[in-house]
Amino acid sequence: MAGIGQGPFIAGNWKMHLTRPEARALAQNVVAAMPGLQESRIVLIPPFTVLGEVGAVLAGSDVRLGAQDLFWEDRGAYTGEVSAPMLKEAGCAHVLVGHSERRQYFGETDETVNRKVHAALRSGLSPIVCVGEVLEERESGRTTERIDAQLSAGLRGLSPAEMAGIVLAYEPVWAIGTGKTASPGQAEEVHAHIRRRLRDNYGNDRATCAIILYGGSVKPANSYPLFKEKNIDGFLVGGASLDAADFIGIAGEALRAYGEEK
Ligand code: PGA
Repeated sequence: MAGIGQGPFIAGNWKMHLTRPEARALAQNVVAAMPGLQESRIVLIPPFTVLGEVGAVLAGSDVRLGAQDLFWEDRGAYTGEVSAPMLKEAGCAHVLVGHSERRQYFGETDETVNRKVHAALRSGLSPIVCVGEVLEERESGRTTERIDAQLSAGLRGLSPAEMAGIVLAYEPVWAIGTGKTASPGQAEEVHAHIRRRLRDNYGNDRATCAIILYGGSVKPANSYPLFKEKNIDGFLVGGASLDAADFIGIAGEALRAYGEEK
């Protein structure tokens, strides 16, 4: 990810929202805020239908484009699916893989996540791979077991070099769209665990450089203390990314924390 700052990585997942004019206006507002967010790495992840529209607004700016999902084959008779080369051609740099809503409503498994991760990398897209436990797993003390299973199956077969192209997002399912955020301590515990796993599997350098995002009801009011945690490198923002002021506010708060010692 050369050429872009090393500061907070803030991705806005617009999910199934926004018309063309709304998407264009939101993207324009984010681009206009970039002079104040210079070291940040900002990604907008709109629905497929407005990728072109948003991509045109982002052209020439440092804001990158991402997609919300992909299929693992490059082409063929797969009605309704979109492939990695298509997303690349549409101007995407990133693609979400394994978001909990895909897992919950659309049958995504750790195995399909793995196929999609390989497909994304093959086309030069950087996948943002989402992991996270459901409430019942947390309450029964199985959070790290679930995360480990998602990581080992989802990232199977990747070399340390390929790992350099991957962004991870820890999103506790019970915190997504619920208004319940993991406390900074709860999030940090899992982030630190993920970094340890990366260290075990891919070595110290890869683990140190890895980008691990937190997601789940992130807002301007909670992003500063979350970002202060040592192993939180940025955010995957859902609801609050639909409001330019909130999204820019989150990025600003993360940047403020970044500017101080962790
Ligand atoms: P939320 O969504 O910020 O609305 O909780 C996060 C996500 O689903 O990525």
